[in-house]
Amino acid sequence: MDEERLARILDLPKVELHLHIEGGAPPAFIRGLAQEKSVRLDGVFNEDGSYAYRDFVHFLSVYEAATSVLKSPGDYARLVRAVLEESAANGVIYCETFLSPDFCGGGDVGAWREYLHAMQEAAEAAERDMGVTLRGIVTCIRHFGPDKAKAAALCAAETAGDWLVGFGMAGDENKGRQRDFAYSFDMAREAGLRLTSHAGEWRGPSEVREAVEDLRVERIGHGVRAIGDAAVVDMLVEKGIHLEICPGSNVVLGVYGNMAAHPIEKLREIGVKLSISTDDPPFFHTTMRREYAALARTFGWDEEVFLDLARGAMEAAFCDKETRDKILKRLET
Ligand code: ADE
Ligand code: ZN
Repeated sequence: MDEERLARILDLPKVELHLHIEGGAPPAFIRGLAQEKSVRLDGVFNEDGSYAYRDFVHFLSVYEAATSVLKSPGDYARLVRAVLEESAANGVIYCETFLSPDFCGGGDVGAWREYLHAMQEAAEAAERDMGVTLRGIVTCIRHFGPDKAKAAALCAAETAGDWLVGFGMAGDENKGRQRDFAYSFDMAREAGLRLTSHAGEWRGPSEVREAVEDLRVERIGHGVRAIGDAAVVDMLVEKGIHLEICPGSNVVLGVYGNMAAHPIEKLREIGVKLSISTDDPPFFHTTMRREYAALARTFGWDEEVFLDLARGAMEAAFCDKETRDKILKRLET
């Protein structure tokens, strides 16, 4: 691919639907907070300052250790600002981020309200200053179990609205069954929240089917393992389920050996709705621009493909119609 064409692709306006707020924390930001609060963080960083982890399960525990220095609504406001600065620098104009009441007030509704308020204010300031729009999705954490998920769902239901627009699940897919979390997803749906769940990142196509059938989600985080069963892929196409695909995350964590082995192009050709996200960008040494560069180089995608994906992401976004239309207009240019 010639460099001029690649530069045009990298400069396109972007939409990101799958970004964990703590996972977007630059390592220097976490180190700075740890110093301010005199918290020792053992085993979180490599010598070069990057995050240190061996595999997915270890990544989750390092993620939680890094998150332990975020102790107040003010810390989360600063985090939102830092994450959105990076988003804006990458040309992202609309983003949805995963927020966890487990980390923000321990599942207490009153405390959660304060965290949410601080994050929303920081997001509104960033929108004014940098032109990037953010919306929040509460996530429960699968390996924390169904009881903690109920507390997270209650926090979500109590604060559902124009800004807090969705409910979902992250965490270790190898723990428990999705149906154990159906009560929480039902509560969130009844509160008017839209639903997504991490599934088919590690476990096979049946996990993707269970997300749709047991949790009744309309989007799936990752979902790439659906490719192993044509019937599951057909079901995704028929029902118009949207996959939030994070190619760089999948390659760095070893779900696929390299970008060329990633099924994103096959899924797209088959007609599965999907979009591109970074997941936890500093952990995976990625950014939206790097994702675009890798996909353009590997699959030869041109500007029209990337613009189409951004428009499709906006169609699957959980925000209200007015916000969607405003962002779609910005994608026209
Ligand atoms: N939490 C943060 N990143 C995650 C991922 N890629 N899968 C599951 N849970 C996560
Ligand atoms: Zn994720």
